[in-house]
Amino acid sequence: MRLLSLAVLLASSVSLAHAAEPNYDESKVGDITLPAITTSDSVDQWENERRAEVLKLFQSEMYGKPYKFDKVEVVSISDKRPLPDADAYIQEVILMLDNQRVSVVLQMPNADAPVPVFVGYNFCGNHSVITGDWIEVSKSWANPMVCGNQVDPTRMTTKDNKFLPTSRSIREFRWPAQEITARGYGLVTIYYGDVLPDDPAAFQEFMKVNLPEEDYKDYSAIGIWAAGLSAVADYLETRRDVDEDRMAVMGHSRLGKTALWTGATDERFKYIISNNAGMGGNSLSRRNYGETVDIITTQFPHWFTGSFRGYVGKENTLPIDQHMLMGLLAPRPVYVASAVDDQWADPKGEFLSLHNAKEVYALYTKDLFPESEQPAVDSPVHSVLSYHYRTGPHNVRFYDWQNYLDIADKYFK
Ligand code: GCU
Repeated sequence: MRLLSLAVLLASSVSLAHAAEPNYDESKVGDITLPAITTSDSVDQWENERRAEVLKLFQSEMYGKPYKFDKVEVVSISDKRPLPDADAYIQEVILMLDNQRVSVVLQMPNADAPVPVFVGYNFCGNHSVITGDWIEVSKSWANPMVCGNQVDPTRMTTKDNKFLPTSRSIREFRWPAQEITARGYGLVTIYYGDVLPDDPAAFQEFMKVNLPEEDYKDYSAIGIWAAGLSAVADYLETRRDVDEDRMAVMGHSRLGKTALWTGATDERFKYIISNNAGMGGNSLSRRNYGETVDIITTQFPHWFTGSFRGYVGKENTLPIDQHMLMGLLAPRPVYVASAVDDQWADPKGEFLSLHNAKEVYALYTKDLFPESEQPAVDSPVHSVLSYHYRTGPHNVRFYDWQNYLDIADKYFK
């Protein structure tokens, strides 16, 4: 089990007392039967009937009713700051999404024409990801469990759920912006906590301001974060330097879950990348391995609708499973990455949801993922459905990005 999960579980051993211990023995997983994604081999029937049915099931059982920020307003735009060592510039844009003040930072290559972009939420503020002491330190709620003093235990990076200036750059290693721009792409990043703090009480507060009480249980934080990315896409469509037809969405872990749901609900994202997304993202809920529906809905009740918790212990009665979420992304390229030291996320389950999405992708293309067994460690398989199982921990590494960029080169150029 990875360190973070262990820390999270220890911190909440009281509330998790009733959740069963996670299983890490493959022989105890047993056989599972997945629901069919398609009901015919007609693209037309998939696109005009079945896809909407599947989407609705994910809305009611997991991620909530469609949420929309009605007003997307630009509050301020910084100058384009050239980067001395790269043929690129950085710009910070402040948006209001209804009542939420959201900073969007772009690092873009100098180019004569609009460029494709990777859009992704970060965990610890834009200032933790992009170089520049002028980028504002987010004033939104900071999660010490995730952004606390992980880089250097002697250096405090959050205090009282606020970021300290010492949190600058702590997550740059996860976003190789120079490499991304050198290869002709832009990077657009947003702090997810600006859109909605990752905290059950803050979620209730957000609901109170925006929706009638009887509806709270029908929405989820992942759904609101996905709506935030769609609102950012609305803004990106207005920019001359962004190619709105070549926008990718990338996310890690809980933000990988969010990237997948964003891709399912917003077809303007043409390439979807799920890095170690695990349970509630693209590992199969039916597989009893690593994190379970019980654990995730106990620990993070706000991430999903109330109905998802109703499947604890009877996961095989879910009318959906995560291969169907992957199917909703068809025919767009998808990249799933697992990591060896991330058994909590159930790498095999992550692979199997991608593999089983073939049912839908086969309606569109023959350029399909050939493997039926999980590929060996550090042996990426690239096609419209791509996968790798990287050595090392639950994290985003340069290796992951190199592979994501290779697929962008294949489908975005
Ligand atoms: C916890 C949680 C995972 C999640 C992860 C993260 O470990 O159990 O489901 O993916 O946090 O987002 O970092």
